[in-house]
Amino acid sequence: MDYKTRQAKQLKGSVVIPPDKSISHRTAMFAALSKGLVNIKNYSKGADCRSTLKIVGQLGCEIKFNSETDITINAKNALSAPMDKLDCGNSGTTMRMMAGILAGQPFDSVLFGDVSLSKRPMKRIIEPLTLMGAKIEHNDFKAPLTVHGQKLQAITYNSPIASAQVKSALLIAGMNLDGVTTVNEPYQSRNHTEIMLKYMGADIIEHSPLSVSVRKSEIQPKDLEVVGDISSAAFFMAAAAIVPNSDVTIQNVGINQTRSGMIDVMKRMNADISLLNKRNICGEDVADINVKYSDLKGTVIEGADIPRLIDELPVIAVMATQAEGTTIIRDASDLRNKESDRITTIVNQLKNIGADIEETPDGMIINGKTELKGGIEIDCHHDHRTAMSFYVAGLIAKQPMLIREFEWVNTSFPEFLELMNKICSD
Ligand code: S3P
Repeated sequence: MDYKTRQAKQLKGSVVIPPDKSISHRTAMFAALSKGLVNIKNYSKGADCRSTLKIVGQLGCEIKFNSETDITINAKNALSAPMDKLDCGNSGTTMRMMAGILAGQPFDSVLFGDVSLSKRPMKRIIEPLTLMGAKIEHNDFKAPLTVHGQKLQAITYNSPIASAQVKSALLIAGMNLDGVTTVNEPYQSRNHTEIMLKYMGADIIEHSPLSVSVRKSEIQPKDLEVVGDISSAAFFMAAAAIVPNSDVTIQNVGINQTRSGMIDVMKRMNADISLLNKRNICGEDVADINVKYSDLKGTVIEGADIPRLIDELPVIAVMATQAEGTTIIRDASDLRNKESDRITTIVNQLKNIGADIEETPDGMIINGKTELKGGIEIDCHHDHRTAMSFYVAGLIAKQPMLIREFEWVNTSFPEFLELMNKICSD
């Protein structure tokens, strides 16, 4: 489905943001490891999380849909050998975390993915899992991955990158092992795994934000609830900040401090943003976020900021085109390893619609404020966040744009258009 963008006069009202993708994946995987019955409230409808769910089913868990988003997983026992290959679709989180689960099982399995996922780097998990004793066949460190289940051993791993997928894969594998498995990172990555595993009774030790260990633990089946996804909320936050006269409240958003970099960056950019009704659900901080249109100014986004907003950078780039002065994004070269090379795809296409934006090896430099002309076709390169970012650009562009294959938004956010339609007036 192609989508023709349209200008909005303003965004007004409130939306309830759908469930967090990262947390949804983890609820299904950890339920599967808990050997019991887990009710999960508010599980993501996105295709990525459905891939995880299907794999959990192939590994012998019983899955019951009480509604589209409320599910019960009955893990019953240890995982069992799958009959078929395991399809991770477009989801890097599924493939990398599942590799951590499967590496230590007493059976073999094959993880594969779509065209985009088959191009993404898997060395980041193959290398440390191999140090633990895993036997993983790969295609030049890319998928498909054939995992020959082995007895593993605990290690201390100094990860060269801040990656929650890597950290999680190792902690999950380490949970079954004698000794202590430790992961050290250069910057803190999202900590949903640590929060949820602790909530389910695992022996997790957080030495510092940059160093976490796990000791052999059996996790207990415990009912879980998924909070709203700040990475989905980001499109509404950015849109409200750049469309004149907007005033939007985004409800039930996870504001875990390892994910909330965009809130801090928007404050630095002079956005009118406030957090209301703060609460905690299953260890995760949650709030409603109000954003009103305001005059924005440029900022520098770098270092420890990056893992806290890595998935939001495409739409932050759109927002920065509307900020006075220069916005510099650096230390974000891993953005090239996402569902698409998000540095090139965002910079080139924003430039084509009139932005003053320049690509750098590890980020981009954006000078604002510039009028966005629109009037071209956008290729989202199999990337949901690129599609939604150009939807947001389209709200202020002079001419409509045709976003090709807009259905890629279903990867994380099938409710996107319905919710945007609810608050946009033209
Ligand atoms: C995720 C971690 C991040 C993020 C991805 C989801 C997760 O990736 O970009 O969308 O759920 O752990 P990295 O771990 O590669 O940084």
